[in-house]
Amino acid sequence: MSEDGFVTVARVGEIPEGGRKLARIEDQEIAVFRLDGEYFAIDDVCTHDGGPVAEGELVGCIIECPRHGAKFNVKTGAAISLPATSPVPTYAVRVRGDEIQVGWA
Ligand code: FES
Repeated sequence: MSEDGFVTVARVGEIPEGGRKLARIEDQEIAVFRLDGEYFAIDDVCTHDGGPVAEGELVGCIIECPRHGAKFNVKTGAAISLPATSPVPTYAVRVRGDEIQVGWA
């Protein structure tokens, strides 16, 4: 972890446009997405019932939890359809050199 609390999770070029990389920071499963040339990170834990939400189908910036079909906005974490009602946590993402880093502290 960097002094300012960011953790490297991928290298630039590793995540194609519209793609994602699953990662683990400490004991937390997260995923980093590349959308419109920017990176976004969310927990890979659905707020409905703990499903692997970041592993679901992605259409634009909307991801569908594979367990019961709740949809979330990957850019904001907002829950946009039932059965989830709470947003999924998001994290700051930055690029330093060729490293994609997630804000963790
Ligand atoms: S666990 Fe994700 S919709 Fe139920």
